[in-house]
Amino acid sequence: MKSPVKNELLKKLFAAKGEPVSGQDMADEFGLSRTAIWKYIKELEEEGYKIGSLRKKGYYLIEIPDLVNQANIKKHLQTAEYGHTIHYFKTCPTTQTIAHEEAQNGAADGTLIIAEEQTAGKGRLARPWTSNEGRGIWMSLIIRPELAPQQAPQLTLVTAVAIVRAIEEVADIQPVIKWPNDILINGKKVTGILTELQADPDRVKAIILGIGLNANQELADFPEELQTIATSLRIEKGEKVDRALLVAKILEYVEQYTALYVEKGFAPIKLLWESYASITGKRIRANMVNESVEGIALGISAEGLLELQLEDGTVRGIYSADIEIKN
Ligand code: BTN
Repeated sequence: MKSPVKNELLKKLFAAKGEPVSGQDMADEFGLSRTAIWKYIKELEEEGYKIGSLRKKGYYLIEIPDLVNQANIKKHLQTAEYGHTIHYFKTCPTTQTIAHEEAQNGAADGTLIIAEEQTAGKGRLARPWTSNEGRGIWMSLIIRPELAPQQAPQLTLVTAVAIVRAIEEVADIQPVIKWPNDILINGKKVTGILTELQADPDRVKAIILGIGLNANQELADFPEELQTIATSLRIEKGEKVDRALLVAKILEYVEQYTALYVEKGFAPIKLLWESYASITGKRIRANMVNESVEGIALGISAEGLLELQLEDGTVRGIYSADIEIKN
């Protein structure tokens, strides 16, 4: 984690846009010696920042490392609360477990846990989630909306809409949503969402939104068995995306749409969601824990359930399933 002084120092270097910032001025401002400032500069260089220095003029920023650390995210952040506290890890087993611990210990609404690499990333139904270093966005966001526990699954749909909006804006690509939690580009998965809950019987204490987004992988970065079903923004767009900017935009839209959902209910989210849905009108098979059913996907209900018209014409609401598209 970065110390506050180092963060402030970086902010000054960013703000100067490559122009030198006087070491003496920064020392005076932070109440430190010039040697202490020099030590922070050295630490930043070790983290990958390229910093030049000019005699009598000061330090200037030459290159920012491609990291999803606090400084790089906060540079773009325009939220009221989400992302104001960030716990950043070079590597960790899974951000999801850390987020659960932080939430239990009283972490503020909108606290973000993010890592460059996960060594035991997990997907839905306890599947492994490939999370190679520096390529994707592996993050868990702790949110504390005033909701009943049974409303929590709708937050997956809120989050999906928010991520699609952020991808559209940052990468200028049009993804679609495959109910409930997959975001696809050209039929391949680019993002998965894992929504987990801490709740009392009648109220949500915290929702942990786990987001895995394939940003800058090349095809060879995916294990062979995923190469035909997964993709990244870089593969689809042909160029790298700024991961830190994308994280900031995701936080912005998740905050905005969660507030809309809490205030106005699911109806406005349903409209947005349906405009991005990939399966409406298609024949699908929904594989649930104990059974599979086939039918035509009609859309989602006012509660966020998938509505499936079965062979006999009846309509069934599905809470959670793996979806196979048949045509
Ligand atoms: C899925 O589609 O199965 C959901 C994948 C969710 C992956 C993310 S990556 C960040 C967070 N930490 C995890 O271990 N999982 C979620």
